[in-house]
Amino acid sequence: MTNPTKPAASGQVSRQLAEVEEFIDVKPSELKQRRHLIDLDDLSVTEITELLNSAEGMLGIASRGMRKTPALRGKTIITMFFENSTRTRVSFEQAGKVLGADVINVTASASSVSKGESLLNTVKTLQAMQIDALVVRHPDSGAPYFISNHTEAAVVNAGDGMHAHPTQSLLDLFTVRNHVGDIEGKKIAIVGDILYSRVARSDIIAFQKMGAHVTVACPNTLLPNEWQLGSVLDKSTGFGDLKIASSVDEAIDSADVVMPLRIQQERQDAGHLPSFREYSDRWGVNETRMALANDGALLMHPGPMNEGVEISSDVAHGNQSVIQEQVKNGVAVRMAVLYALCAPRKSTSPDNNQES
Ligand code: CP
Repeated sequence: MTNPTKPAASGQVSRQLAEVEEFIDVKPSELKQRRHLIDLDDLSVTEITELLNSAEGMLGIASRGMRKTPALRGKTIITMFFENSTRTRVSFEQAGKVLGADVINVTASASSVSKGESLLNTVKTLQAMQIDALVVRHPDSGAPYFISNHTEAAVVNAGDGMHAHPTQSLLDLFTVRNHVGDIEGKKIAIVGDILYSRVARSDIIAFQKMGAHVTVACPNTLLPNEWQLGSVLDKSTGFGDLKIASSVDEAIDSADVVMPLRIQQERQDAGHLPSFREYSDRWGVNETRMALANDGALLMHPGPMNEGVEISSDVAHGNQSVIQEQVKNGVAVRMAVLYALCAPRKSTSPDNNQES
């Protein structure tokens, strides 16, 4: 006797998939050739745009209350975090689960890494379990590149050392695009730890690629040695036309987006900053400084924030702040990334996603 529930279940899956496909751009694309997402510098404007368009669809799926889809059913995603995280780790987990994947979280402290296992052996061990994607955060710049050479899984960089945080930049682009439409020509002011911040590096690249004018501001001690306050970088630096303001006021003046970055405790311990109070006075983003920006300018922060240091509480929670929106958009953007890398090998047919 046939199981009367089976056809109904398949029909439901098909309907859900049809809804997913309705929202997601499934046309042949440059993204179909991509195996990993490790940095933004080799991503084309077309690929970035496709990811942002796909994220729009993913946001649509989430906002229609379709909490789980079968799009990545049967896929296994491992999040491997060698550094603490709230936003990135949870949003990757949520993104994978909404798409129907099995998501397994590995933290360094609870894994055999704490017993001295090497990164290579950890990756080989996970690879042996037939995984489809490895989402990695690591304190060493370049660790995701290394991993991508030793696994057949798609590797997604969830932040590596001082190097890159590509999904943060994609969600920042997505958030700005949702407010201003075309990012081209907009002035983006990034204030804070430019020397050590992977978000700063990835955001500068991302916003410049999309045609924005990026200005950074920070104390001399948090600027790369070869960069000068009050200068504009040339193309040979890889950050062509990046403006380095002499003061935070200069950076924020007429900006469309203002983004303070987290000042890390260790910067003060290392002598980069005399005190947090002085940093807050000279470089902190507050109401007075936000008044210099364009009307309706967006206030962003990648998080986690040190309220009262790089950002005042009133602006962090004020009506120009889109910080919570960034967090919400992080799920949609990471859904788009996981779908682009893990969906049944680049077929545009929903049939390939169906139950067998
Ligand atoms: N922005 C960001 O990477 O935050 P988490 O460290 O909480 O993931």
